[in-house]
Amino acid sequence: MEKTVRAHTNIALIKYWGKANQSLRLPLMSSLSMTLDQFYTDTKVSAGPKNQFWLNGVEQSGQSYQRVFSFLKLLQEKFGVKGNLKVESVNHVPTAAGLASSSSAFAALAGAFCVHYGINLSAVELSRLARWGSGSASRSIYGGFAIWQKGIDNESSYAYALDEKPQMDLQLLVVELNKNPKELSSTQGMKQAQTSPFFRPWLERNQAELAQMVAAIKANDFSKLGSLAELNACEMHAVNLTAQPGFTYFEPATIKAIKLVADLRRLGIECYFTIDAGPNIKILSQLKNVKDITKRFVSEFHNVNIINASFGPGISCLN
Ligand code: PMV
Repeated sequence: MEKTVRAHTNIALIKYWGKANQSLRLPLMSSLSMTLDQFYTDTKVSAGPKNQFWLNGVEQSGQSYQRVFSFLKLLQEKFGVKGNLKVESVNHVPTAAGLASSSSAFAALAGAFCVHYGINLSAVELSRLARWGSGSASRSIYGGFAIWQKGIDNESSYAYALDEKPQMDLQLLVVELNKNPKELSSTQGMKQAQTSPFFRPWLERNQAELAQMVAAIKANDFSKLGSLAELNACEMHAVNLTAQPGFTYFEPATIKAIKLVADLRRLGIECYFTIDAGPNIKILSQLKNVKDITKRFVSEFHNVNIINASFGPGISCLN
């Protein structure tokens, strides 16, 4: 019986938003993330009569099939192994949550591939492999807080755990503002963002921002962590707006949500936001304020769905 591998999604507090090398997925900057308990992907790889990719019980063709099998082909070449593969994945990442599932998907797929062929890898080696599928997947190998160091080549670009079992009281509220699929893929978005006059200056700030975030985590300083995460997300969206041509993932509801976070802060309910390549907002808060924040968002956005996540574990084998 083949084993199922589970990997959780992560949310970047210091964003990856630019590739130095497209095919190797080497990033232009280092990033830092929080792995989430509520969202994950379960994947099993077994021998098949032909290559097949099943997602949530439905056989896939087209783009998602292509992406999965071009990744698996790279892995087969690397390890000198052969054979048709049946990939069965179940995504416990509601599309409604507006969270990208590629981080958990490619981490679980890299893990399940290794389990199928009996390949034993260290976490760092697995992180490098997952990176080939999706950059953010390199961080989903670990629980808690992870750092993906950009490196300069395939060997040196991987993620490692900063703290797998953080004691920090940190909650992430995922607010579902918009269920439509994003109009611009992250690959396209990060390419276009590099035409912004602010892209280079942002890149130059990356090491310092990362160091400040690590210091905030080590000092268990929620306020510092939240304000830095919010600043970093705004920088990412500012380079999008100022790209040539400019673009944005924001929708009117995104702006309303940003203002609501500022308003809550003014009322003494401390919270911060982060936003990825889509219109949905994720709110960083502490347990004591979750109820008040949820209540306010539900009333302003007419019963919007909000999922409360916290720290999740690293990759694991289920059976
Ligand atoms: O690796 P991708 O293609 O899922 O890109 C991730 C991009 C962001 O989610 C916006 C930032 C990040 O570091 O996860």
